[in-house]
Amino acid sequence: MEPIPLNAPAYVRNRKLLQWVKETAELCLPDSVYWCDGSQEEYDRLCGEMVNSGTFIRLSEQKRPNSYLCRSDPSDVARVEDRTFICSIRKQDAGPTNNWVAPREMKSTLKKLFSGCMKGRTMYVIPFSMGPLGSHISHIGVEISDSPYVVTNMRIMTRMGRAAMELLGEESDFVPCLHSVGAPLEPGQQDVPWPCNDTKYIVHFPEERSIVSFGSGYGGNALLGKKCFALRIASSMARDEGWLAEHMLILGVESPEGEKDYVAAAFPSACGKTNFAMMIPPTEMEGWKITTIGDDIAWIKPGKDGRLHAINPEYGFFGVAPGTSVKSNPNAMATLYANCIFTNVALTPDGDVWWEDMTKEAPPSLIDWQGKPWTPDCGRPAAHPNARFTSPASQCPSIDPGWENPEGVPISAFIFGGRRGDTIPLVYQSANWYYGVYLAATMGSEKTAAAAGKIGDVRRDPFAMLPFCGYHMGDYFNHWLQMGRTLSEPPRIFGVNWFRKDENGKFLWPGFGDNMRVLKWIIGRVHGRSAAVESPLGWMPKYESLDWRGLEDFTFEQFTKLMSVDREAWKQELFSHEELLEKLYDKLPKEFNHIRELMLSTLWMSPEHWALAPERYSEQ
Ligand code: GTP
Ligand code: SPV
Ligand code: MN
Repeated sequence: MEPIPLNAPAYVRNRKLLQWVKETAELCLPDSVYWCDGSQEEYDRLCGEMVNSGTFIRLSEQKRPNSYLCRSDPSDVARVEDRTFICSIRKQDAGPTNNWVAPREMKSTLKKLFSGCMKGRTMYVIPFSMGPLGSHISHIGVEISDSPYVVTNMRIMTRMGRAAMELLGEESDFVPCLHSVGAPLEPGQQDVPWPCNDTKYIVHFPEERSIVSFGSGYGGNALLGKKCFALRIASSMARDEGWLAEHMLILGVESPEGEKDYVAAAFPSACGKTNFAMMIPPTEMEGWKITTIGDDIAWIKPGKDGRLHAINPEYGFFGVAPGTSVKSNPNAMATLYANCIFTNVALTPDGDVWWEDMTKEAPPSLIDWQGKPWTPDCGRPAAHPNARFTSPASQCPSIDPGWENPEGVPISAFIFGGRRGDTIPLVYQSANWYYGVYLAATMGSEKTAAAAGKIGDVRRDPFAMLPFCGYHMGDYFNHWLQMGRTLSEPPRIFGVNWFRKDENGKFLWPGFGDNMRVLKWIIGRVHGRSAAVESPLGWMPKYESLDWRGLEDFTFEQFTKLMSVDREAWKQELFSHEELLEKLYDKLPKEFNHIRELMLSTLWMSPEHWALAPERYSEQ
């Protein structure tokens, strides 16, 4: 058989890359190899080709310029955690929270799956930088994919193209990321709009620092710079090299006096990172301003100043569409004005997009995410609950002027929060770094549509990293403890819960922009301004310590409900920590057992000693 011509442009000189592309082409047998340069012309051409093939629908040039709608196969709508593997050489290095298969065995499985898997398709070579181009903190990856949807999304989500390739020179190292939708075409066979395969594998080789993904075209399964590289592989690099790769948003807070702080916050998938990162404070809190550095991933390194400094390695947002509105997140809505890809949302008759809660009233008729006619009374959601937008971060009105600064921003506080209908109060501050690491390690959250599987059950999601930690979770906890020991100014650590409900299932806290009230208290704690009372969980605000301007009708009684620490519920909560901690027994930090015991014993103190007693909340 004729060898497939590689046709590498002259600027591609990296020997390891040329060899890898050659071997991959010989294995996957694509019709042709295409080297992505990242240009606008290339993007427009690929989008045009996908419009012609039925994969993309061009949206109205008036309503949503240069934007497209894409509908995935209904079987391929979210990350597949049970098909995600950490193939370290030793099983104990992946730990009990990851799926593991021996690398040799996995490679032989993958070799069979990839043999001829790109027949009838183009093999795209996609060079990209996670982090600003050429910066010392950035890392280069190259994704090989047979999906033009992946190419166009990678151009929005990463710094993709010729410049990243040129940085590789002849010898520089990169993370190879191999991806196929796993749907070869026989000669003459008609393609489908969203090719994929029922067999799926999302595989990481942490020692080799390489990634292989088969069978899915969706989100974190296929845009390999994001979860696979910037979290799973990077977390393992970070442990080796003394830094952190985290599932965190990064935001800037400016006070009316012009004091500026940065915080990083970890919430599990679809639990409010994008919203918090772009929050607009209530108008009554005059002079407070939020700026956005990132909405999903933070790379965090200790600086010479003894503080932690964070960068956002991404270049765009891959955000949850349903629930996003001018009311809930005006900055996100403004970001979406043009140049976006929308996946699995509904289409309006005038060529625009719609999803649940984008407007108070649903349009009278739509085409739903599966391409079927939809009316408000039809009983089906118009958009898939994990429908997403891909949008350039640079288009966000609240983007921080320093968001591309390779030195990163100094972090004053870490915030951890899950989606919990009960038990967990609105906000509390851990007594110190060690209690904070315990708080984050034992965080629980109700499962969302961001990953395939049953929705709603509470599961432990340590640091919001359960699906994203590339090594043993016990080693990860120890790495966090160790980082704290080396910092002269460790960030303060807080827990939050925007999702507590009353007995009728209604949220007790308005959330969204009103979360600024909580953030203001947090910043005040960092600077020793905000008052607090003791509780078994740490420090908590009094009613008087929150800024209530513009929310004066939120009563002391409502606040008490939202903040209450119920002894029985917390006993159960601490017992349920055991379930995770016991799994990690062989590597669990010794501190954890002591902290848990101390928290249990504090729960038995008379409530008068801490915040359970209402009078402790209030100076009245
Ligand atoms: P990933 O991109 O999956 O990592 O998630 P994310 O954490 O960025 O999620 P996102 O900000 O997109 O949150 C999605 C869901 O959380 C939407 O349904 C929002 O309406 C809801 N949400 C966000 N903030 C709040 C809040 O303060 N209160 C309440 N009740 N819901 C919120
Ligand atoms: C998440 O699930 O946390 C996401 C979306 O940010 S995905 O990139 O699909 O993983
Ligand atoms: Mn995420």
